[in-house]
Amino acid sequence: MKYTSYAVIALIVLGSVCCFAYRRHPAVAPGTGGLKDYYKNYFPIGVAVSAHALQTDEAGLLISQFNSLTPENAMKMGVIHPGEQWYNWKEADSIAAFARRNGMKLRGHTLVWHRQAPGWIFKDANGQQVSKEVLLQRLKEHITTVVKRYKGTVYAWDVVNEAISDDPREFCRSSLWYRICGEEFIEKAFQWAHEADPDALLFYNDYNEINPVKRKKIIKLLNGLVSKGIPVHGIGLQGHWAINEPSREQLENTFKDFIPLGLKLQITEFDVSVYPKEHEMRTRQAGDSAAVFTPAVEQQQIEQFSMCFEIFRKYSSALTGVTFWNISDRHSWLDNFPVRGRKDYPLLFDKDLQPKKAFWSVVRF
Ligand code: GLA
Repeated sequence: MKYTSYAVIALIVLGSVCCFAYRRHPAVAPGTGGLKDYYKNYFPIGVAVSAHALQTDEAGLLISQFNSLTPENAMKMGVIHPGEQWYNWKEADSIAAFARRNGMKLRGHTLVWHRQAPGWIFKDANGQQVSKEVLLQRLKEHITTVVKRYKGTVYAWDVVNEAISDDPREFCRSSLWYRICGEEFIEKAFQWAHEADPDALLFYNDYNEINPVKRKKIIKLLNGLVSKGIPVHGIGLQGHWAINEPSREQLENTFKDFIPLGLKLQITEFDVSVYPKEHEMRTRQAGDSAAVFTPAVEQQQIEQFSMCFEIFRKYSSALTGVTFWNISDRHSWLDNFPVRGRKDYPLLFDKDLQPKKAFWSVVRF
């Protein structure tokens, strides 16, 4: 064989080795920063995590790409306060320690929610529903204990999550919190959180604000709280969106309607499903298995991510954070919602933790 043939073979081998080594490395590309660096003049970039993720190869990606964390489940009432005299701090503490160690911000999620609430909180020793007084007292104890523990580490709390109804005829969601306490639990939650940590920024968090009817109700709730002097500092827009919604117009209108309130805005749970948006859980149907992440769908997702970030940058004087809900397409809550077991690809990193094309569409501006 001629020397040139050896040289060609050597180059091919070397090229494949380098390519393999590069694919294994979670960093984006030599010399470029992470998402947080591209957006350092705009807003922090956060991500929802489990304590387990911090022990895996995802930890490197977290540190290189993000500068804010939210515990996906670890601070929810059912997890952190499973019994009246029983607080389970383990996972939340380890996420808080990771954030401190790596100089990352930490958002607390969430102090009152109708889901993932522990059964005991609504019941007395005989299994009967508790009175408003008892429930509010328990809520106060919960909020005070949890908020004080993470004082100085959690800079912002989602105090109340999803209290507004999706039903256009109803204002508050008819949750057990509401049925037992009326609207009062909302204002009390903010007051108690503020008493426990006067420095923490307190958010009302909800989904589907791109719907003008629901948005109007959220604005009414917040105007009411602000006019009563309740300490509320921000609105969390979850941002569980999809390739087909929101439209540019819906998103712009959302920002334009919220900004006059003068509160901080954050996107708190961002993802872009590759399936058309459905709001309710449903069973799997025959066509579902055929749906995959095709090049056409990938292109729609690239355009949707790019449009959302363009609007986020445009309104960055009001927007103080964008948090993704989950790290990479390896795992997302959307793998089980709205269809259990239907794989989704809603994030900027693929299953190998590599940046997707959509990643480049949000950092090249
Ligand atoms: C809501 C909650 C989150 C999370 C998602 C689904 O958006 O606020 O904590 O549970 O649902 O995972």
